[in-house]
Amino acid sequence: MILPVVMAGGSGTRLWPLSRKLFPKQFLPLIDEASMLQSTCARLQGIESQPPLLICGDDHRFIVAEQLREAGIGHSGILLEPVGRNTAPAVALAALRATAGDEEDPLLLVLAADHAIKDLAAFQAAVMRSVPQADAGKLVTFGIVPTAPETGYGYIRKAQALNADGNAFAVAEFVEKPDQATAEEYLRSGDFYWNSGMFLFRASRYLEELAKFRPDILAACEKALRGASFDVDFVRPAKEVFLACADESIDYAVMEHTRDAVVVPMGCGWSDLGSWSALWEVSEKDEQGNSAKGDVILQDSRNCFVQSDGKLIATVGLDDVVVVESDDAILVAAKDRVQDIKKVVERLKAEG
Ligand code: GDD
Ligand code: MG
Repeated sequence: MILPVVMAGGSGTRLWPLSRKLFPKQFLPLIDEASMLQSTCARLQGIESQPPLLICGDDHRFIVAEQLREAGIGHSGILLEPVGRNTAPAVALAALRATAGDEEDPLLLVLAADHAIKDLAAFQAAVMRSVPQADAGKLVTFGIVPTAPETGYGYIRKAQALNADGNAFAVAEFVEKPDQATAEEYLRSGDFYWNSGMFLFRASRYLEELAKFRPDILAACEKALRGASFDVDFVRPAKEVFLACADESIDYAVMEHTRDAVVVPMGCGWSDLGSWSALWEVSEKDEQGNSAKGDVILQDSRNCFVQSDGKLIATVGLDDVVVVESDDAILVAAKDRVQDIKKVVERLKAEG
């Protein structure tokens, strides 16, 4: 049986000023009426699976519960982290819960709560294709054909095909977030996929691999769950213990090291809406390439992303610029510099 695990604990700082600490991007309706979290859960219909297990920050418990209720989505529990320790511990908590007591050892379909996927049938087909690999003890990652030398992604070099259909490959190398020159080289070589950040593996296999490469993380998560408190749907790992857990992503902690990774290509119109330029890419545009939302007038402007939350925004003679207005802040940024918005957020944090 497949147990989907939806990770919704990220902070989404590059989508400031819309994505905020108390309301990060996975809870926003960035593409259509539904929030990214709601779309992620809705996407599971059509995959034979249990209701999803959610894992998010304690601060966001009511947003998550309310968004699921509103969309009529059932769940298998909501794990609440007292503080974000990144995805390696988050998945460890989920895998430990999934194997606790009399629970059988399900295949975990690990999903990020903030991806856009256009072709649902292709997504579901790739997941189903990967089941035999995960059943055989492999850690499946879903590969996306790269289109640019992005440095914010993991890169997967495929090795030999593992089945006659040629749609599952051994992984020769997994490199998380390479530098620019390396990413360019990977793109040119044509041998690499992007890691989509979605995974399928048996819960116990993830725990075994974590025990090999990061026993400290596994031990902290086990201890935090031994001291957990339970409150209806909510499970709270022990705070002090979890605070002491290392902060590490599943990619660095396990995927770069395991010898049992498999990549299944997924051509599903995937996009990580990590930045305003990524959002511009997928949004509807006028003939000049502008994406405008809300009360906006664009005069002689091209390839801009402009979003108003109430005030009228007018631009004149702008190319490749992002303007986003929110209640209490306005962002104006060059579209090719939007990765650096996180530096602004860091400064805001530092300056209180
Ligand atoms: N519960 C929980 N707790 N969720 C978290 C935490 C945490 O501490 N940190 C991040 N998440 C969630 C985010 O909300 C997101 O849905 C997902 O986990 C991935 O985290 P990101 O922080 O967005 O990772 P990334 O984009 O830098 O990199 C990952 O995704 C890329 C594709 O989008 C990696 O897996 C890359 O290899 C991959 O290419
Ligand atoms: Mg991301």
